[in-house]
Amino acid sequence: MADHPEHSEPNFIPLVVGSFIFVGFAIALAYYIVGQTAKPEDPAAVNARIRPVAQLEIAAAGAAAAGARTGEQLFQAACTACHSTGAAGAPKVGDKAAWAPRLGQGLKALVASATKGKNAMPPKGGVGDATEAELTRAIVYMANKSGASFPEPK
Ligand code: HEC
Repeated sequence: MADHPEHSEPNFIPLVVGSFIFVGFAIALAYYIVGQTAKPEDPAAVNARIRPVAQLEIAAAGAAAAGARTGEQLFQAACTACHSTGAAGAPKVGDKAAWAPRLGQGLKALVASATKGKNAMPPKGGVGDATEAELTRAIVYMANKSGASFPEPK
């Protein structure tokens, strides 16, 4: 006296079909959203977007040429490689303890020593075309972040 199969077992077919449809919609929706947000970029649009930054950088590099670099510009261009990381045993900018004995020599001696080079420090910090004024500004920039208060050179 078994029941009719349709009464003894729940019928999963509509449920299964329904979930396939649901998943199908979900995938279609996901593709739609991704398509909206991640369209391949038009190179012209990309160029237009980055152009102001590129121009600014060229302008900054131009202004930084010909002995006219500020202390910060020269520092960022060259000195930071060692003096921000401590590479080659360089005194790090901001490390007052490392700079204190060096600052004691005075600015003139620091400029002279940086110009000549010292141990792992190459002459002029590796910037062959740096002028004395530029080096002085870069040293004042570093030193004043490391416990000194040298007057800002012109
Ligand atoms: C290749 C790594 C390197 C670069 C690049 C570098 N320095 Fe140095 N610098 C050193 C090291 C190492 C010392 C410590 C030398 C020592 O006392 O043995 C030093 C020391 C100095 C000192 C202290 C000198 C003294 O008499 O105690 C000054 C000033 C200085 N650097 C300025 C600069 C400036 C300005 C620049 C960028 C134009 C620069 N350095 C770039 C490695 C570097």
